[in-house]
Amino acid sequence: MSILADYYRWLLAAHIIAVMFWMAGMYYLPRLFVYHTEALEAGTAHDMFPVMEEKLLRIIMTPAMLAAWVFGLALIFAGQHWPLADAWLISKLVLVVGLSAYHGFLAAERKKLLTGLPPRPSRFYRLINEVLPVLTVVIVVLVVVQPF
Ligand code: HEM
Repeated sequence: MSILADYYRWLLAAHIIAVMFWMAGMYYLPRLFVYHTEALEAGTAHDMFPVMEEKLLRIIMTPAMLAAWVFGLALIFAGQHWPLADAWLISKLVLVVGLSAYHGFLAAERKKLLTGLPPRPSRFYRLINEVLPVLTVVIVVLVVVQPF
């Protein structure tokens, strides 16, 4: 794995860039769901939302998530973290699997909103958008500070 180790800094840079795009989409998509749901409830114009939601998910979020995983897994080998033993890294990966499941949940919500019947009140999407900052802070502290 020394070849990967030679590119450790490039892999790290690519990983952080991919994570930034992924997180930007994960923060923005629920906001679009809020406006989309409120437009459906008010019976006002809402045709632009499905296009924006699909593009955000397909062009930015999903490729960025896949890139974050590919470069993150490469870093596990480039950084000599295999076999996994560091409690901070194992904890981080558990939280990141949770983030990936949340990504899947948002993708499913997008499909439900396409029916034109809001699956949930807009307040629900406002509230779930409060969870992501907490997860982001914990993940970054785990990987940068490596507290345990
Ligand atoms: C998608 C799956 C992910 C995997 C497999 C992964 C794995 C890794 C690994 C192995 C490192 C190098 C750690 C080291 O050698 O010190 C790293 C660095 C980093 N990761 Fe991830 N990560 C993932 C997702 C994320 C997410 C979602 C975030 C933020 C929300 C994140 C933020 C960071 C940061 C900021 C660094 C740089 C740490 C430093 O250089 O001090 N990662 N990641």
